[in-house]
Amino acid sequence: MVTDQVAFVTGAASGIGRQVALRAGLEGYRLVAVDRDADGLAEAVRGFEARGVTALAVVADVSEPDALEAAAQQARAVHGRIDLVVAAAGIEVLGTVADLDAAAWRRSLDVTLSGTFFTARATIASLIETRGSFVAISSDAGTTGAQGYAAYAAAKHGVVGLVRCMALDHGPAGVRSNVICPGFVDTPMARRLFDSSPEGTEEFYRDAIPLGRFATPDDVADVVLHLASSRYANGVVYALDGGSTAGYFVSGDAA
Ligand SMILES: NC(=O)c1ccc[n+]([C@@H]2O[C@H](COP(=O)([O-])OP(=O)(O)OC[C@H]3O[C@@H](n4cnc5c(N)ncnc54)[C@H](O)[C@@H]3O)[C@@H](O)[C@H]2O)c1
Repeated sequence: MVTDQVAFVTGAASGIGRQVALRAGLEGYRLVAVDRDADGLAEAVRGFEARGVTALAVVADVSEPDALEAAAQQARAVHGRIDLVVAAAGIEVLGTVADLDAAAWRRSLDVTLSGTFFTARATIASLIETRGSFVAISSDAGTTGAQGYAAYAAAKHGVVGLVRCMALDHGPAGVRSNVICPGFVDTPMARRLFDSSPEGTEEFYRDAIPLGRFATPDDVADVVLHLASSRYANGVVYALDGGSTAGYFVSGDAA
């Protein structure tokens, strides 16, 4: 159990961020839950409370640097410290270079890449004070190409580069920075994608995973909490994809 430490989690209203926040709270972290979706965040916080976890809910859009500064200030005003930062807020923008317009490209980078940077920038001084830990949620599309995901993969590659630099720049001050690259995780984001895709898409992606299933938000929370507590992990780019980026894979049925 963690005592007296504070976790600051973005994207906490849904999916991965929500489960990471709950699990951090159950581990004993005092929780700061950040999201731009006020209703979703209120609903998530009610769910945390039903499990005995209280959270400070802060409505903020991670693409707005001032909103993140205010959120971090509020966290420090209420709790006095920040020990763990999890940057999970992100959006999925689909399209190739031929069909992405400038606004969609910019939105992807603004939220997914700049949002991670603004989260880090607003909290890094606190993490230096506590010799704390920063964990970003990138994607398997942060280390490999992904067909039809040009803006998303570019943003997620950027997140990996950003976190590697943080590991070098702030490791000497005792801050550990790591990034998780999940394959498909069964969340509302993935459900939206499958629901709007041709029939068979979900099965196609599932068949490409050696472990034969999508990740759950709990699978991701396990690794976040491991990286947060692992005293020598710094600059780790953690592939959490059931083996799908390990090499060529022919599904069990076809092999
Ligand atoms: N689900 C997957 O298959 C998968 C795979 C790899 C990586 N990821 C990444 O994991 C992270 C979480 O994804 P998820 O599947 O839980 O998605 P989700 O849509 O279920 O949850 C994302 C949360 O982020 C919030 N958010 C979005 N834009 C925001 C902004 N500008 N400011 C503040 N909050 C914002 C949303 O309101 C939502 O609560 C994302 O970065 C996503 O790219 C997801």
